[in-house]
Amino acid sequence: MGNMLIRRVPAEVDSWIEEECSRYRVSRQEFVVSVLQTAYERKYEGQMTLFPTPRTVERAVPGTLPFKFIDLFSGIGGFRIALEKLGGSCAFSCEWDRYAQKTQKAWFNEEPAGDIRKIKPADIPDHDILAAGFPCQPFSIAGVSKKNSLGRPHGFRCAQQGNLFFTLATIIEAKRPPVAILENVKNLQSHDGGRTWQVIRETLRDLDYVVCPAVIDAAGWVPQHRERIFIVCFDRQVFREEPDFTFPEPPAGPRPKLADILEAAPPEKYTLSPHLWNYLQEYARRHQEKGNGFGFGLASPDGITRTLSARYYKDGSEILIPQGKGRPPRRLTPRECARLMGFPDEYTIVVSDTQAYRQFGNAVVPPVVEAVGREVLRTISGFLKQKGCLVKSPVAAYRSRKAS
Ligand SMILES: C[S@@+](CC[C@H](N)C(=O)[O-])C[C@H]1O[C@@H](n2cnc3c(N)ncnc32)[C@H](O)[C@@H]1O
Repeated sequence: MGNMLIRRVPAEVDSWIEEECSRYRVSRQEFVVSVLQTAYERKYEGQMTLFPTPRTVERAVPGTLPFKFIDLFSGIGGFRIALEKLGGSCAFSCEWDRYAQKTQKAWFNEEPAGDIRKIKPADIPDHDILAAGFPCQPFSIAGVSKKNSLGRPHGFRCAQQGNLFFTLATIIEAKRPPVAILENVKNLQSHDGGRTWQVIRETLRDLDYVVCPAVIDAAGWVPQHRERIFIVCFDRQVFREEPDFTFPEPPAGPRPKLADILEAAPPEKYTLSPHLWNYLQEYARRHQEKGNGFGFGLASPDGITRTLSARYYKDGSEILIPQGKGRPPRRLTPRECARLMGFPDEYTIVVSDTQAYRQFGNAVVPPVVEAVGREVLRTISGFLKQKGCLVKSPVAAYRSRKAS
């Protein structure tokens, strides 16, 4: 028995199916399967040519549900690595940073489109899952304090970056993907007294999506404390009622530890100079005296690290590896950062250390996305088993309902 997912059924065909179903008192599934069965039989009787020319059939990864996804604000493609592993094919991606584009070209042999604000939604191919790690600087604690200290607006008031959420919402409204998986910093929910999150949630609900948010700590998958909010949205017009969806639990068994990802012989250049190490210790001492806990972070190889940030290239102080008494600690190598984020070693680093640190510090953790994506696919498969097919309501119906 195969399952099928049908999207973009033309309005007149959709209402014909509806009429026939009520006339014959059959479900949409029974009706569609019966039409296909008849077509299949007639094909062998030589009475019907389904398609005038042979069509290219895209092969799905065996045992997985084939689906198309798009990756917006794609960085180095953390979503893409995870979703391709689950059997998805990337129909479109968009990222304006030229170094991230270079990494994507090396990894996927494809360059993403550039500035999202210049892309017409109509030029984006149809897809089943929209993935987006929309820019987080306007919402993160580090971003907010930096912007505060510079006297700049943040959140939605940051016209340059914060409003990119609305660009994203416009694409969701135009393309109506059955599922959207969005990712951002944990602070998104508390930013501006909760008002930023309220606007985001209400915008998605107004678009007729069921919004399921959860903060997930990547520490269950990689040896790093990294809390991120995942917002999984289901199109209510497709799923009709609340979808049967739960966020994943981390894999059972011992948690990963830092020692698992460390290089055996890291080059000497990653060891801190005595001058920088003295400065960091002095800075931490002064801050502790004032009652501020913010200083460098010496990570134990038996434990996990603090969150890798995009600013790690500056001094690497948030994650330092001890190297024994009398020797300054070292920072992580770019390869160790890749591993800390769950990127497999086969993805070679093609940019400078500075860019590599920025790219990994900005990325999603692919194993976490894979776990979330697997649950999303479970929800879709469950829905398919129950309903027979995922028939997408015509966009026009939604528009007229919205207008009324
Ligand atoms: C949080 S990162 C996303 C990281 C990505 N999910 C990954 O796994 O690497 C946000 C990305 O949005 C990109 N970005 C910001 N503004 C953009 C714009 N107007 N158009 C396209 N990309 C943009 C940034 O360059 C950055 O790489």
